[in-house]
Amino acid sequence: MSDAHVKFNLGNPVEDSEEEVFLPPAPLLAGAHVAGLPSYHEMYSDSINNSDAFWKKIAQELHFFEPSNNGLEYNFDSRKGPIFTRFMAGAKTNISYNCLERNIQRGYGDRVAYLWEGNEPCDSNTITYNQLHEQVLNFSAVLRAHGVKKGDVVAIYLPMVLELAVAMLACARIGALHSVVFAGFSADSLASRIVDAKCKILITADGFFRGPKAVILKPIVDKAIEISKEQGVNVESAIIVEHLNRATAPNGHPAPTVDCSKGIYHKYFSEMQKYKGVDSPVEWMDAEDPLFILYTSGSTGKPKGILHTTAGYMTYVYATCKYNFDLHHENEKDIYWCTADCGWITGHSYLLYGPLMNGVSSVFFEGVPSYPDASRLWAVTEKYKVTKLYTSPTAIRALMAFGDQFVTKHDRSTLSILGTVGEPINPAAWRWLHKVVGEARCSIVDTYWQTETGGHMIVPLPGATPQKPGSATLPFFGVNAVLLDAEGRVIEGPGEGNLCFGKAWPGMMRNVYGDYERFVKTYMQPFPGYYFTGDGARRDDDGYIWITGRVDDLMNVSGHLLSTAEIEGALTQHPKVAEAAVVSAPHDIKGSYPYAFVTLKNGERLSKELIVELKQIVREKIGAIAQPDVIQEAPGLPKTRSGKVTRRILRKIAEGCDSGLGDTTTLVDETVIQQLISGRDNRA
Ligand code: WT7
Repeated sequence: MSDAHVKFNLGNPVEDSEEEVFLPPAPLLAGAHVAGLPSYHEMYSDSINNSDAFWKKIAQELHFFEPSNNGLEYNFDSRKGPIFTRFMAGAKTNISYNCLERNIQRGYGDRVAYLWEGNEPCDSNTITYNQLHEQVLNFSAVLRAHGVKKGDVVAIYLPMVLELAVAMLACARIGALHSVVFAGFSADSLASRIVDAKCKILITADGFFRGPKAVILKPIVDKAIEISKEQGVNVESAIIVEHLNRATAPNGHPAPTVDCSKGIYHKYFSEMQKYKGVDSPVEWMDAEDPLFILYTSGSTGKPKGILHTTAGYMTYVYATCKYNFDLHHENEKDIYWCTADCGWITGHSYLLYGPLMNGVSSVFFEGVPSYPDASRLWAVTEKYKVTKLYTSPTAIRALMAFGDQFVTKHDRSTLSILGTVGEPINPAAWRWLHKVVGEARCSIVDTYWQTETGGHMIVPLPGATPQKPGSATLPFFGVNAVLLDAEGRVIEGPGEGNLCFGKAWPGMMRNVYGDYERFVKTYMQPFPGYYFTGDGARRDDDGYIWITGRVDDLMNVSGHLLSTAEIEGALTQHPKVAEAAVVSAPHDIKGSYPYAFVTLKNGERLSKELIVELKQIVREKIGAIAQPDVIQEAPGLPKTRSGKVTRRILRKIAEGCDSGLGDTTTLVDETVIQQLISGRDNRA
């Protein structure tokens, strides 16, 4: 995209009857890293025209053990040779060092790195940069003592306790790749990730409290280890954090007891004690050495291990976090809070690495926004005087439904930036966030990006970009956002198409772990010469980008990507299910939800019990987030003559449409459609 598409001038917003434009608030503008739209344009052009110099200048703000003359090198066109991206090849650095030692050296050792807020409001704790460094060093010695070496993959299955941050940073310190698995995933999901990356070691906890409930992890881990073993991968040791007993149990109930002493389990705190004071030096990593794997849903059902490497991810996350949340390390009053779980990329980039590299203090939250009541986010904001809050549209929509009084009873006067991520934020939720939460004085930063991109791609700069509710606005520095039509032709100016990126950026994924072919096929082959996001988008007259949603078989539920094929795979494992088709249906709070059509074997009928069993099987195979809200019996599925299920039609039926289903003449049996429409009343 060229700058010419953007017509705005600060102080002179384009009046548009349909689209309201919000200018960056004056106080933010005054001290922002990038102040005013002309500065954005200037830096953006520089980032595109002199990209090597641009990125190297940013990298200079970080510590490199050995420099390199190389910049950003890439090939995005598989017809010309293998696909690759390299940034500062030959340099040596370490991201954990940049998060810890670098801050200690610049005098921030006693600064709070994290304000930990537990599930219960009475549970809280702080950790300084010095203390975090000490724990990371200590735990990296534990990992080494357990035989972990550079290049090994360590599975981490932990709730939002500080040991999660310690474990990730300790892996990075010694050059081991972390593969964090969200603690809401099932034993099967955990096992498939352990097996795919052949993890020999796992870091976990006995359990945790989530809102009013206790979640006991150990039995899930036991099962995952067993499944992994059956599939040929032997987890040799599991280090377990005993968290249940130190946490306050909801409603004053005593914490369940879990025996962590047998088998391959080693207790976290005794291991730490054992290796306290043992030196464990930083491993200087090559710029392109792998840093971590994080699994994300894939269209074919099998999750993809997204691989990020060292220098590029580090530089990109540092820069996006600094500019998009306007973080100032010299300002001790900057209290940043990203509500994401480290089990997702947002937690990796914008709770762990980004804010630590920027030397600020962050809130690290174990709980949920609705517990003890719907005012939790605002109570915590008041408690810690949060200045920048980064959360999800789903959370905003859910809290909005409880009413304004939950928000307004707490002091939010410290807030200046409110960020969202994970899915499009609808204009109504955007306006509520702006007006009610932000008292019309905050910048709203709608960040569009993906696990694969490492960091923000389309995003307003809080002190520069005029904002439009519902648009992620303009590309970040170095990002060449392109819309392509179905034939791969570039759409210039206003229009709608497939969102692609025409140039590499430092934080770009490097591979699907162990499956280069899948990497190329999924992202680089659909539009040769471009990285394809899988999303559709529209560009308006002002050059603003509006994400319209996935154009593949992935669906976005509460900001989490789910694969329809993976849910179908789980459903068809039930002995009574012959066939299943899952589509995404719109939901007021979650954005969308999985809607399942199932065809049963030999005249079986969909009873209440069977529905419970089917939901259960999805929970077991994937996790609670993937459980279909609606399961409908389908005497048959609409299929083309080549046997392909026409999801387009099923989606319409799930949305509640009776007509306007599009062309149905190519179907083998058109009558199933009428049956499915009338069957909607009997769904559960
Ligand atoms: C998909 C990536 C990026 C961290 C969380 C999700 C959707 C993400 C936005 C946004 C519209 C968005 C896209 C994208 N998405 N942010 N601001 N506006 N859509 O990471 O699980 O890799 O999902 O989430 O569809 O492709 P992820």
